[in-house]
Amino acid sequence: MNKNIRELFQEEYGKKPSAVSRAPGRLEVLGNHTDYNEGLVLSAAIEQATEFAIAAVSGNLCKVRDFRDGSKIEFELDKIETPVRGNWGNYIKGVIMELRKRGHETGAFEGAILSDVPLSAGMSSSAALEVATAFALGEAFGIKLSGEEWARIGQAAENNYSGVKCGLLDQFSSIFGKKDSFILCDFRKTEVLRTVPVPHGYVLVVANSLVKHNLVDSDYNIRRESCEKAVQILQEKHPEIKALRDVTPALLRKSKEFLPLQDYLRARHIVGENDRVMKAVEALDKGMIEKFGALLFESHKSSRENFENSCIELDCLVELAFSIPGAWGARLSGGGFGGITIHLVKSDDAKAYSERLKTAYKLQTGKEIETITCGIGDGASVSRIL
Ligand code: GLA
Repeated sequence: MNKNIRELFQEEYGKKPSAVSRAPGRLEVLGNHTDYNEGLVLSAAIEQATEFAIAAVSGNLCKVRDFRDGSKIEFELDKIETPVRGNWGNYIKGVIMELRKRGHETGAFEGAILSDVPLSAGMSSSAALEVATAFALGEAFGIKLSGEEWARIGQAAENNYSGVKCGLLDQFSSIFGKKDSFILCDFRKTEVLRTVPVPHGYVLVVANSLVKHNLVDSDYNIRRESCEKAVQILQEKHPEIKALRDVTPALLRKSKEFLPLQDYLRARHIVGENDRVMKAVEALDKGMIEKFGALLFESHKSSRENFENSCIELDCLVELAFSIPGAWGARLSGGGFGGITIHLVKSDDAKAYSERLKTAYKLQTGKEIETITCGIGDGASVSRIL
């Protein structure tokens, strides 16, 4: 039987941890790149999560073992200003740095990590690690902050330490997810507006294209700049516009001639996504699965044509969803440029559908994918070990 995080910690350090946190990965169900445009997202925390066991120690030296691959980092608390490129320890050090900036000092600690969130796949393994770290540090060093503040610390760690100008979606969903529900997030208010039950008898099959999306090196930041540029230009005629959230589809159509084509297309994706999120919630409330599925397909089309954050592999997976029986909708999920697609299928069909998808994809591309039928779980938590 696999050992749990407490047992692994005990083996590594010869004592019990004082606290264990757990932070899930997330799925972006609908609402692509809308978070940093003060927009709307329908998201969910998944059952796959990262656990962080911690015990405070005296001195200055921190040690963390990642039991996924056995790797280990050690660092001194006063020597963490500079990130080490490509190292998972950055997510931990980044959180410590952001806490410090806000006046919360942590002491040294020993830590252990265990995770089943797929890496670099668009399911927010990095946010899960940041939030698990944050919650563990909070418990070990008596730092009490709101869920929103913890989410912002995780995001800031990513923005300032790892160099990805990501929005708040990943950390927010990892913290505020609700079992068996999608959460409707408003990133202007930074609030969960409401939960929306996952339609009864349906699941999301996640197809991991295994095309690594490395957001640091990708066009993510460039897409964000394009959205900001569109806002600046639109503001010249409409000073009331603060973010793409304020732009209606009709206003954007009217403004087309003033915007460079590329920025117009990027904005069109965001404006369309905000609209689709609200339509999706309405469709789910009315039990209109077909409509909900169609909105997922539309979202992907817009990613492909307007935001250009898809790739051949993701397009192929969504195309297959049209031809293989069983999928009601499919789209890329997360940052894009690789990573995953999500497929809405009936629970009873999930296994057969996943197999067909794998086979058809292999036939078309010669390449393998991995599929996961994702359970929707609760957001992050931490428990003190007595
Ligand atoms: C990544 C980012 C999020 C969000 C999504 C796209 O996951 O980390 O902030 O922008 O991409 O919706």
